[in-house]
Amino acid sequence: MFFDTLLDRAFGHPSGVLGRLGGKLMVRSKRAFAGWVVSELDLDPDDRVLEVGFGPGVGIQRLAEAVPRGFVAGADASPVMVEQARRRNAAAIRSGLVELRRGLADDLPSDDDVFDAAMTMNSVQAWPDPVAGLRELRRVVKPGGTVAVAFTPHSGQSREELPSLLAEAGFEDVRIENHRDGFCAFVES
Ligand SMILES: C[S@@+](CC[C@H](N)C(=O)[O-])C[C@H]1O[C@@H](n2cnc3c(N)ncnc32)[C@H](O)[C@@H]1O
Repeated sequence: MFFDTLLDRAFGHPSGVLGRLGGKLMVRSKRAFAGWVVSELDLDPDDRVLEVGFGPGVGIQRLAEAVPRGFVAGADASPVMVEQARRRNAAAIRSGLVELRRGLADDLPSDDDVFDAAMTMNSVQAWPDPVAGLRELRRVVKPGGTVAVAFTPHSGQSREELPSLLAEAGFEDVRIENHRDGFCAFVES
């Protein structure tokens, strides 16, 4: 119980000193995996994309590299992570390529059908209502756009439960791909 609380403050809902430390650890371990997820999205340079639960902002960096003439939005529940990710992506934010906000997965601060693609990595397992959050991703991504829902082995997300969560949120034809560092479900909005 005590360790669950510590892990949650460091990774699930990062806050305080533990949250800052958790953010640093997440950066080291996720670079290659985030790069793979972004490459599988097969983005065009002018696409508009979203990441929910971006943590320290490594996925946001990879997205910004993939859409240099587009736009990258991010929403994360933790003010500590928003601060770390903004520092990590400061130049791209200044240029207007990236915008990062505090926001909850089940109430995204976006209109319908505005993104060409979206991703979320190691975050769904921490959402209070995963189906509501996944429905929100479906709402904000244009019909036909891809949503990537990715996890590393220590996320705690069951791979077996993922297709039914996605189906409940209204996604069809779930494709799950494996990587050395984890797995990712790709679905069309
Ligand atoms: C384990 S971290 C993963 C961070 C990063 N994506 C990675 O893989 O390194 C989980 C992230 O999800 C965010 N998060 C948790 N619940 C959330 C919610 N309901 N809505 C949006 N973000 C949430 C946390 O603040 C945290 O930054």
